[in-house]
Amino acid sequence: MTDLSKITCIEDLRVLAKRRVPRMFYDYADSGSWTEGTYRANEADFQKILLRQRVAINMEGRSTATTMIGQPVSMPVALAPTGLTGMQHADGEIAAARAAKAFGVPFTLSTMSICSIEDVAQHAGPGFWFQLYVMRDRDFIERLIDRAKAAGCGALVITLDLQILGQRHKDIKNGLSTPPKPTLANLINLATKPRWIMGMAGTPRRQFGNIHGHVKGVTDMSNLGAWTADQFDPRLNWGDVEWIKNRWGGKVIVKGIMEPEDARLAVDSGADALIVSNHG
Ligand SMILES: Cc1cc2nc3c(=O)[nH]c(=O)nc-3n(C[C@H](O)[C@H](O)[C@H](O)COP(=O)(O)O)c2cc1C
Repeated sequence: MTDLSKITCIEDLRVLAKRRVPRMFYDYADSGSWTEGTYRANEADFQKILLRQRVAINMEGRSTATTMIGQPVSMPVALAPTGLTGMQHADGEIAAARAAKAFGVPFTLSTMSICSIEDVAQHAGPGFWFQLYVMRDRDFIERLIDRAKAAGCGALVITLDLQILGQRHKDIKNGLSTPPKPTLANLINLATKPRWIMGMAGTPRRQFGNIHGHVKGVTDMSNLGAWTADQFDPRLNWGDVEWIKNRWGGKVIVKGIMEPEDARLAVDSGADALIVSNHG
């Protein structure tokens, strides 16, 4: 067991993850697309933000608790959706949802999660949000929205900045695909990760849980891969956001906004909140 009291910063967790997680999944989390310039800038830009120091102000009883989209939170931070979390660690999305619940912040489940909406709902707290990738298969999207509603998700997070998949060089080199390529290099690397193998052997959740068994014609990992690659919809537009909002009927957060003009259009389309970010 890891002594969590000795984990003092994200860098400690990164080092631990690099040691324990098979390279193809570790690299998936710790890399960006193309030159990875945006990925580096995302970190560097945050380092430029400094806090002003005021003194001699009564600090007693201070609190970070507030609300986000009308929901109480212990601090104004939410766990962002990350695809394949259940491949970083067995049942990773369930573990993350439980941690978020214990801490009192929202957890956002990715469309491309390993654990399904239904599985995570049993462990998540009141701040359980679902992130929607808009696929060409609108039938599937409708069912996904209905499943998130039935699971009691408190917000739908619609990702708008992945109409076309980025070219991610490490993923190509590592053979990260569905199913993963069993190259000799991958098998040798896997042999150095016994804790990960034990964890994965002990869970039935090793597929994309929101998709597998919910799409007609998708029965195994290889036709799931082909389906997914073809599904991200390049025609996605604000009319779709309005349509999704109506079908959902609850709070909508749009994700991937980078331009003031898009922020205005998002509000006009009925968004309750915006996530200013990019996929890097
Ligand atoms: C490994 C990884 C997987 C991600 N998967 C998703 C996803 O499934 N859906 C999504 O909307 N965003 C996804 N993102 C984007 C993040 O939610 C977030 O917007 C992005 O990482 C920027 O925030 P950051 O600077 O705090 O990392 C992913 C990011 C990473 C690093």
